Amino acid sequence: YRSQHQDRDNSMGLNLANDDQLRELAAAINNAGAGSWSASPLVPGANATGEKIAVTNPADRREVVGHWQAADSATVERALLNAVAAHAGWDATPAASRAAILEHAATLLEARMPAYMAMCTKEAGKTLPDGIAEVREAVDFLRYYALQAREHFAPMALPGPTGESNQLQLGGRGVFVCISPWNFPLAIFIGQIAAALAAGNTVIAKPAEQTNLIGHAAVQLLHEAGIPQDVLQYLPGDGATVGAALTRDARVAGVCFTGSTETARLINRALAGRDSGAIATLIAETGGQNAMIADSSSLPEQVVKDALGSAFTSAGQRCSAARVLLVQEDIADKVIHMLAGAMAELTVGDPGLPSTDVGPVIDEDAKGILVAHAARMKSEAKFIAEAKLGEATQHGTFFAPTAWELKSINELDREKFGPALHVVRWKADELDAVVDAINATGYGLTLGIHSRIDATIDRIVQRAKVGNIYVNRNQIGAVVGVQPFGGQGLSGTGPKAGGPHYLPRFATEKTVTINT
Ligand code: NAD
Ligand code: ALA
Repeated sequence: YRSQHQDRDNSMGLNLANDDQLRELAAAINNAGAGSWSASPLVPGANATGEKIAVTNPADRREVVGHWQAADSATVERALLNAVAAHAGWDATPAASRAAILEHAATLLEARMPAYMAMCTKEAGKTLPDGIAEVREAVDFLRYYALQAREHFAPMALPGPTGESNQLQLGGRGVFVCISPWNFPLAIFIGQIAAALAAGNTVIAKPAEQTNLIGHAAVQLLHEAGIPQDVLQYLPGDGATVGAALTRDARVAGVCFTGSTETARLINRALAGRDSGAIATLIAETGGQNAMIADSSSLPEQVVKDALGSAFTSAGQRCSAARVLLVQEDIADKVIHMLAGAMAELTVGDPGLPSTDVGPVIDEDAKGILVAHAARMKSEAKFIAEAKLGEATQHGTFFAPTAWELKSINELDREKFGPALHVVRWKADELDAVVDAINATGYGLTLGIHSRIDATIDRIVQRAKVGNIYVNRNQIGAVVGVQPFGGQGLSGTGPKAGGPHYLPRFATEKTVTINT
């Protein structure tokens, strides 16, 4: 995106081909951790009292990188009281002033990219390219929502009869709870917060249990940039306790949630079950069962490259990741053969090394689900290939990227969040049925199309019920302001993060009519 108010585009990130930048990054990663990071609630007037829980590196569980403390119920209550009390002042702060603080935070974050990337590697197991993308996206969200606030939150004059002035004003809803997942611990965490703050809400931010340290560092940075401590509070804790306590509280005006479809349902029920307080807004971005369709006009080399990138980048731990590659039978054997060859070349291992393609999965639970899925696929599907685990992976939570062939997409149940790809063949007269089967999963997040026939592409685009479609490229890595991101059906409530309609969902609208 390019702002009228800022003479710049999306964040540039780091250049890993530049020796100086790579050295700076390597130093940040080597100096990181050693138990030095910590996270505890950032709630004025509350004291951290809980047990200190160790955080270990997903790539090597012997390495303790820090400790965190969960919020207790008194701290949750204190945070809610603070957030309610701070709302009027923050909402009255001009949108341009709120935007300026977010832009300052973006500048600070961009300048400290290696340090935040190091945290992404050590706490979340992110590879270096993923770490760069993570920080860039967080920077972009800060700048984009600042821009949107400047543009849309200034009072808007509306037409009316002579002698009457009409104005539309957007304002904050009140207290927003932002609940985020571990797979984008900085980008989604900051994106949710930035949107809610830009729109004039006070925010209580609850990170995922697996990535508390990154969340803590992000909130500290936002405070340093100028967000008052009671306007943005950090509240780590279990979803089932801290998350649930927040979402059932009548003082909460809105929840911005990203995570699994199952948790979104729990939050929806909690909000609906409140018998007092405002009718709360829920903005939920959830999972996917994403497909890539390749017809016989597509280039097998490109299909394989993009399927590989879409399925295995970030160890498949992206809601956008391709889970099913649907290939027209004429080219299926060739594509499967090339896919197996390409998977043999993947480097799976230490995410801190520039040569690594695929790092660890987030924890033992995630690995266990993938191992159980592989066991089921062993009896129900045809094995295609499994990448080799690299050296020194035995102490981490690694799962080797694996591909199987299935008869139909219907054989898959819920989203498997990891490097697991399924290939399904289809016949020339089955195109509509293929798209209908994808729609029938109920998820509707990303869809990849590989074809050189415009009519086929148009037909799929028209028929598919998904949020983000990518043609003849990979289907991950949506860019803020360029590919606004989010799905439909089981994949979320919309609106799209990083898009022009997102911020108003965090706001109330007021019209003021004056008889002049
Ligand atoms: P999750 O649903 O387990 O947890 C997400 C967050 O919800 C965590 O902070 C957790 O503590 C909290 N939570 C859990 N139970 C809660 C409850 N009862 N009340 C309130 N909060 C609760 O998801 P995850 O495993 O952290 O993330 C992976 C999932 O996120 C995948 O399904 C993935 O597809 C999805 N995701 C979606 C998007 C998107 O933009 N659509 C982006 C990233 C991840
Ligand atoms: N926004 C992330 C992507 O597009 C999930 O990959």
